[in-house]
Amino acid sequence: MCGIIGYIGGKKTTDVLLEGLYALEYRGYDSAGVAICDNKDIEIIKSVGRVSLLEEKINKESKIKSNYGIAHTRWATNGEANLTNAHPHKIGKVTLVHNGIIENSDLLKEKLIKEGYKFNSDTDSEVVAALLDKYLKDNDVLKAINLLIKDLKGSYALGIMIDNDNKLYALRKDSPLLLGIGEKENFLASDITAIIKHTNKYILLEPKEIAVLEEDKYEIFKDGNKIEKEVLISDSKGIDNSKNGYSHHMMKEIMEEPIVLKRLIDRFSDEKERKNLDLSNYKEIDIVACGSAMYAGLVGQNLFEEYAGIKTTVYPASEYRYKKKIYNQKTLVILVSQSGETADTIAAMREAIELNVDTLAIVNNPDSTIAREAGKIILTNAGVEIAVATTKAYILQVCVFAMMAFTTGKNKGLIKEDFSLFNEVPNKLKLVLEKQDEYKELAKKIYKKESCFFIGRGIDYALCMEGSLKLKEVSYLHSEAYQAGELKHGTISLVEEGMPVICIISDKELKDKSISNLKETEARGSLGIIVTTEDLDDFDNYLKIVVPSSSKYTDSMLIVPALQLLSYYVALNRGCDIDKPRNLAKSVTVE
Ligand code: M6R
Repeated sequence: MCGIIGYIGGKKTTDVLLEGLYALEYRGYDSAGVAICDNKDIEIIKSVGRVSLLEEKINKESKIKSNYGIAHTRWATNGEANLTNAHPHKIGKVTLVHNGIIENSDLLKEKLIKEGYKFNSDTDSEVVAALLDKYLKDNDVLKAINLLIKDLKGSYALGIMIDNDNKLYALRKDSPLLLGIGEKENFLASDITAIIKHTNKYILLEPKEIAVLEEDKYEIFKDGNKIEKEVLISDSKGIDNSKNGYSHHMMKEIMEEPIVLKRLIDRFSDEKERKNLDLSNYKEIDIVACGSAMYAGLVGQNLFEEYAGIKTTVYPASEYRYKKKIYNQKTLVILVSQSGETADTIAAMREAIELNVDTLAIVNNPDSTIAREAGKIILTNAGVEIAVATTKAYILQVCVFAMMAFTTGKNKGLIKEDFSLFNEVPNKLKLVLEKQDEYKELAKKIYKKESCFFIGRGIDYALCMEGSLKLKEVSYLHSEAYQAGELKHGTISLVEEGMPVICIISDKELKDKSISNLKETEARGSLGIIVTTEDLDDFDNYLKIVVPSSSKYTDSMLIVPALQLLSYYVALNRGCDIDKPRNLAKSVTVE
């Protein structure tokens, strides 16, 4: 989603800003822009589309030599993705970039229009610029910003320049923003990866704090007083933008799955480490997350209830945060997030913490808000994911759930097998990934279709949800996931001649039931496709994907990668922008 970088120092400002924007590209955006200043004039250059287009424009149009500036990648929220709505925005003396959503911007805009302000864009961000400009008329900068903070409702991270002032200002609420500290240069950024090439020292800004950056010093103020803050050191290696010879990050990241999975399983093969996975103290679990992370949670729910004897409910974070919570003394809230910056998941986590319930986060980004704030964390350590569609991070989330259910069930005396059964999964996963030709062939049979279904029961339904999401997000082929037995209660009316219905079968007990449901769709003309494990495969007359058998705790980790590859090849055949699907962002930092 939107990204911010700001720089003040001796280097060529546009170089630093562009590098930062390139590093933020993976988050998803639809326009980009910079504002630079030479201590006198401010020059704003924006473009719709990729940062490379902005770079071309800067090379052609930029006239000033600057030592400070701010830059932004925008993922449209208020107002369409066009040049006028792209950031930075300038009104009066104020130039700014903004991440987040100002919820009372319509009201503020109305008042400002009455006071004579004119607006060019449809954005809420321009309203912030106008409001600050208004307060600057009678106040010094810090007072004006404090008045601004009082008026704004919603979420924001702001990087601000004021005419003839030669400083950068930064403030935030609910959207992340940090201050990077260098030698005779300082930075601001929404994500450490934007500046890690220059410095690993940073300070996290908290709501109501205002950072003032100059070339050789920085100051932070809260409620009008200067405060000292801890300087943190990041061990982020930055974004490895290389594709390692693959044509897409998505493929590269899928192919990394066996390695990162092995690393995770090896870590928890140590009994001491495994204690962190034991949830036997809890009677009830709420799993809260968004998108694929929530679907990993659905797998977790099935495993917890089946093998660890813990009642588990899965909620989308956007619903959970506004629902009445019913906790007992032994409830655990598990948050799941690759980025650790998903706005709804953060808000749900903070609510749970405030209500004094135990929280545990399964999170990939160690520098993220969720990793910092959750009661306990389990890092998946999948490494950075660049493709918008999550693949390796999802598999590791599922693996953590499987290991948790297994460890808890074992400690409760419900499971006889040994943890070592996890060790064989990475090698079996390699076999799944080797069958590229089969996925390509199947993709050829599907890619021209208009719509398709994924059906399954129990844990297989959870896998259907992820398979279906992956397919639609990267290939734009309409797809629905359904509990196999539920289809005939209405939705089967959508089944048409030739429509692919992909039936997932890993649960032996439910195999015959799911097959009957698949047959019901075939009787109405569907193209039945089966995804199953070797031990259950007796499907001679079907198009099918067969993965190696492993165990009821680990089958999911072999089935979903096959579906990820199928989606990849369908998207490739349909000519889609696989790593950056339309309308999507990697890190969803607004509600
Ligand atoms: O960073 P998070 O795991 O919190 O992100 C949650 C969802 O936005 C994410 O899983 C999304 O659904 C992906 N595009 C799925 O591939």
